[in-house]
Amino acid sequence: MTQDELKAMVGRAALDHVVANEWVGVGTGSTVNHFIDALAGMKDRIRGAVSSSEASTARLAALGIPVADCNAVGEIAVYIDGADEIDPRGHMIKGGGAALTREKIVAAQSRRFVCIADASKRVEVLGRFPLPVEVIPMATQRIVRQFAALGGDTALRCVDGRPLVTDNGQHILDVRGLRIADPLAFESEVNQWPGVVTVGVFAHQKAQVCLLGTPDGVQTLDFGRG
Ligand code: A5P
Repeated sequence: MTQDELKAMVGRAALDHVVANEWVGVGTGSTVNHFIDALAGMKDRIRGAVSSSEASTARLAALGIPVADCNAVGEIAVYIDGADEIDPRGHMIKGGGAALTREKIVAAQSRRFVCIADASKRVEVLGRFPLPVEVIPMATQRIVRQFAALGGDTALRCVDGRPLVTDNGQHILDVRGLRIADPLAFESEVNQWPGVVTVGVFAHQKAQVCLLGTPDGVQTLDFGRG
């Protein structure tokens, strides 16, 4: 099976976790795109979606799935999103698609986080994937130095030779060379650095469940709340 077929398989499997007549939080990325396409088949059985990016909002709207703003809804029943890495406790690195800030906001508003990922995303320790960090541009060089002090090698994410601008009007740094053994402490520390909007470690907003796409089918990993 190709990686895209594995992503499509878990995207469809996530429908079992959508709660009828409730809001569903929708992440961003190629795996979630498969989920959105499958969700169209049950759009009349949900209240609507709360989206984590302009790209997902456009895809949801094109399929006739109503999209509500975070501020217009209360608690969201479940948040479905992909990951760039997931560890054995459900901690993740996210933000490869630059949507990490809104993803963390929607995840925080949701009762459960169901991660959908192909098996290549599973790691023992976070850090092989370059860590995305959304930053206020004027703080970039100081944040680069702070990561260097931790052993990180940081690059400004660019598209067509220009800095990528997020849905929130900010920039993304990608940090290589980190080994994030204590994701909760790491997330808390980097969140304190002035100019950091969001760090792409999702430990405080970890997944409760991961639907992992493997050649043998969908494997369900249950991490619980703790
Ligand atoms: C988007 O910003 C990310 O957090 C995605 O969830 C992550 O990059 C996974 O993307 P794919 O599903 O495209 O692999």
